Amino acid sequence: MHTEKETIETSPDILIVAENPADVAAREALLDRAMGPKRRKKSSEKLRRGRRPSEGLALIARTEEGSLVGTVRLWDVRLGEGGPTALLLGPLAVDPSAKGAGIGSALMRQAIAEAGRLGHRAILLVGDAPYYARFGFTTEKTGQLSMPGPYERDRFLALELVPGALDDAKGVLKAAGRKLGASVRKSDSAFGKSDVATDSVSTSFGRPAGRVAL
Ligand SMILES: CC(C)(COP(=O)(O)OP(=O)(O)OC[C@H]1O[C@@H](n2cnc3c(N)ncnc32)[C@H](O)[C@@H]1OP(=O)(O)O)[C@@H](O)C(=O)NCCC(=O)NCCS
Repeated sequence: MHTEKETIETSPDILIVAENPADVAAREALLDRAMGPKRRKKSSEKLRRGRRPSEGLALIARTEEGSLVGTVRLWDVRLGEGGPTALLLGPLAVDPSAKGAGIGSALMRQAIAEAGRLGHRAILLVGDAPYYARFGFTTEKTGQLSMPGPYERDRFLALELVPGALDDAKGVLKAAGRKLGASVRKSDSAFGKSDVATDSVSTSFGRPAGRVAL
């Protein structure tokens, strides 16, 4: 007989799907478990607060049994005043009980593929370079760019989906995503958090993005 944890460790099948509104509470609980309460103080949060994720780019990892075990979202940003748009990725998190099983990588691969398919030209993030390097993220193209708040420069990384997309990029990143609507904000209060519940409204509800053999 298998417990759920054993299933995560031994079952090869994890579904990467678009997040839907019913996933929000479980996603927020997972983020609290994986990253702790300081996660809301990050500079990236300034670019996410009050905005929806980029269309079709809020993904979750779900076990065959239905448990949410991973999350990643990407956000529309502008690179400097009047500059081109790009995506900011984060947070990426995997449930601590399911770490090291390839779920984070599966989410990253799916997010990058989907972003490219949707016509985006570059993805930026603030994170651990040794982890994100495996997906092609480097500091190479972020030297002239900056986050709107404190961050460590060697953790400010980018991946071009279109070669050369960041060649002339410079300036401070600005939020460029669709703003949360009034009716959506109302539903936020049910969760008691300003950035919760609404993000998933922008996604294609429940559309399977891919089944991943880990
Ligand atoms: C980082 C995180 C998303 C990785 O997810 P995961 O499903 O455990 O990762 P995967 O199974 O796809 O990859 C595991 C590999 O990544 C490596 N890895 C994990 N976190 C790492 C980190 N912070 N820096 C460098 N390598 C890391 C592991 O050592 C392992 O290496 P191996 O393949 O050589 O054995 C997950 O550990 C997590 O949620 N951490 C807490 C939240 C967080 O830090 N988010 C990212 C912000 S930078």
